[in-house]
Amino acid sequence: MATYQKPKGTLDFYGLEAMKIHYVQNEIRNVIENFGYNEIITPIFENTEVFLRLGDESDVVNKEMYTFNDKGNRSITLRPEGTAAVCRSYLENKIYANPGITKFFYNGPMFRYERPGTGRYRQFTQFGVEVFGLSEPLLDCDVIYTAYSIFKRLGISNIKLVINSIGDFKSRSNYAKALQEYFSDKIDTMCPDCKRRLETNPMRILDCKVDKEHPALVNAPKIKDYLSDESKEYFSKVLNGLDALGVPYACDDNLVRGLDYYTDTVFEFIIDSNDALNGLAICAGGKYSELVKSMSGPDVPGIGYAFGIERIIGVMDSLGLFASLGKEFDATILALDYESKVQSLVIANQLRLAGLKVDLDYKNMSMKQQFKLCDRNNSRFILILGEDERLNNMITVKDKINNTQEKIKLEELENYIKGNK
Ligand code: HAM
Repeated sequence: MATYQKPKGTLDFYGLEAMKIHYVQNEIRNVIENFGYNEIITPIFENTEVFLRLGDESDVVNKEMYTFNDKGNRSITLRPEGTAAVCRSYLENKIYANPGITKFFYNGPMFRYERPGTGRYRQFTQFGVEVFGLSEPLLDCDVIYTAYSIFKRLGISNIKLVINSIGDFKSRSNYAKALQEYFSDKIDTMCPDCKRRLETNPMRILDCKVDKEHPALVNAPKIKDYLSDESKEYFSKVLNGLDALGVPYACDDNLVRGLDYYTDTVFEFIIDSNDALNGLAICAGGKYSELVKSMSGPDVPGIGYAFGIERIIGVMDSLGLFASLGKEFDATILALDYESKVQSLVIANQLRLAGLKVDLDYKNMSMKQQFKLCDRNNSRFILILGEDERLNNMITVKDKINNTQEKIKLEELENYIKGNK
């Protein structure tokens, strides 16, 4: 057993696993930039008060934050999510003064002291988006559509979109009263957290991980019966827009989300698989009309979501979507003598600078071993350099796919590989 171990709930990524992270992040970035989003990079830690906006009754604030005092005795928290931090930056930098809608994306590690399990870590990576400045059903649809297109681009098909409206604050307060009444004679059979939530935030009971199968939850009053006319109309326009875009969805009355800042539209993309990832949210978010204002900012609505990158990788692994990632070298150089080895180092580095992925033998491996290296590299071209080639400024090129072998001039090598690969 190793003397030093990574902290519980964290992961090391190396080689192919690290490549998967970058591949997924790059693919998402390429799509999201086409939708007109710009990157925002905020610190990995914030003053703790920023995250208290997530809600006193949310598990994230109550139980999961990595909070500590720094040497200047300031309370600091490693960010458990991106929305509150992006709102802080949006306000601090007065970005709201810019005309029109602001569309941001961000990408990086988040920290939550959760019980580690399948797809659940204490350090994980989110790729998120936040859009500020407009409360319109069609904007909600467009935001949801970005996530939908990203799943298409990545080739992930076994997911379903679940969506709900939790209404405005007035609808929510009526609903909270109804829940309090409904649960009052059932709460004795429920978990201690639910007992507390009955007083502080009864909607949180619907999101309880312990009591999620409890019959009282299944038969609880539904938010849709307490929505204001405005919220009802807003939600029906969102659903119409999704229909028009051809995005399939399922409405789920019990979807309330674990963070307190949401209003009206909330949604999750859930994994639908036969393995342990089944049922996990791979992307989640919603609209937050009051968060910016509650942070002493102007009355600007927001909407956003975040992908869990490790969960995306888990699903893509199970679907075999990384099969061709990182396996293939463009070329591997075989050298027949020491002088040729020195020159092959020079050639390899010229080709690498030209954007090709090239390997070579640094030691004195036999030809058999060098050919094995080519196989391990899944190398498209095998380049062979011996005294004969070297003296004539030539190199022998074997093309593994077209099954050809020819001698070409060194100065033509780069174009030859690029033209034929
Ligand atoms: P969230 O639902 O807490 O929302 O997290 C979003 C996604 O991050 C989840 O659906 C999941 O894929 C991933 N995730 C969360 N916790 C973990 C964990 N412990 N391990 C691995 N993956 C995890 C938010 O964070 C909101 N800020 C999203 C949002 C943006 N809402 C509006 N704008």
